[in-house]
Amino acid sequence: MTIVLASMNPHKQEELSALFHGHTLLIPQDLGVSYHHEEIGSTYLENSLGKARTLHKLLLDAGRSTYPIIADDSGLSIPALKGEPGVYSARFGEKELGRKPTYEEQHHLLLERMRSITDRKAYFICCMVLLIHPERWFVAQETLEGEIAFNPRGTGGFGYDPLLYLPWKGRTVAELSLEEKNQVSHRGLAARAIRSILENHLEKNPYEST
Ligand code: IMP
Repeated sequence: MTIVLASMNPHKQEELSALFHGHTLLIPQDLGVSYHHEEIGSTYLENSLGKARTLHKLLLDAGRSTYPIIADDSGLSIPALKGEPGVYSARFGEKELGRKPTYEEQHHLLLERMRSITDRKAYFICCMVLLIHPERWFVAQETLEGEIAFNPRGTGGFGYDPLLYLPWKGRTVAELSLEEKNQVSHRGLAARAIRSILENHLEKNPYEST
């Protein structure tokens, strides 16, 4: 099946291409569409659905609306910080620095906030939407649980990967290969659930082939 991904993040594109292997994953530029969505929602679901609906409208306007769309919104939630940075993970540190921070600056700021905190439990969360049209969509939200490391470690992945330590692996997420990360990650689990809907519900639904 051909699917369009509502994301301009090259790291997510790489992870999702592997997770949807066997399907054709396009990005908006492949269809000549320039995509941008302002993340103004207060939940992962609002944002992922918003991203998918924005892209659907752009494709409709460009006469290319027949493809299912996949969008995800994700972040890092730390219970000891009342769930922060949460849905605002991408923008964490912007207020302090007055500009978009680098991943390294975000690590530094977060480790400062965690300095005197002993409960270091944290989760990555991924909410993934498969949208057929604005009122027909499917959703999966998954987590990857670990602990905030005392120092960043590893060079793989993106975002907060060097900070999330997985005790059962003895490594941070940034120390996993792409395959290992996809096996256990919030995005990997959500993508497998969505893939199953795509293959078992949509591809076998006679209504889809008409
Ligand atoms: P968004 O889903 O594009 O809004 O991105 C949310 C932010 O959460 C990213 O910029 C990253 O900082 C963080 N994030 C989301 N998924 C991951 C992940 O798999 N690893 C590390 N950081 C992530």
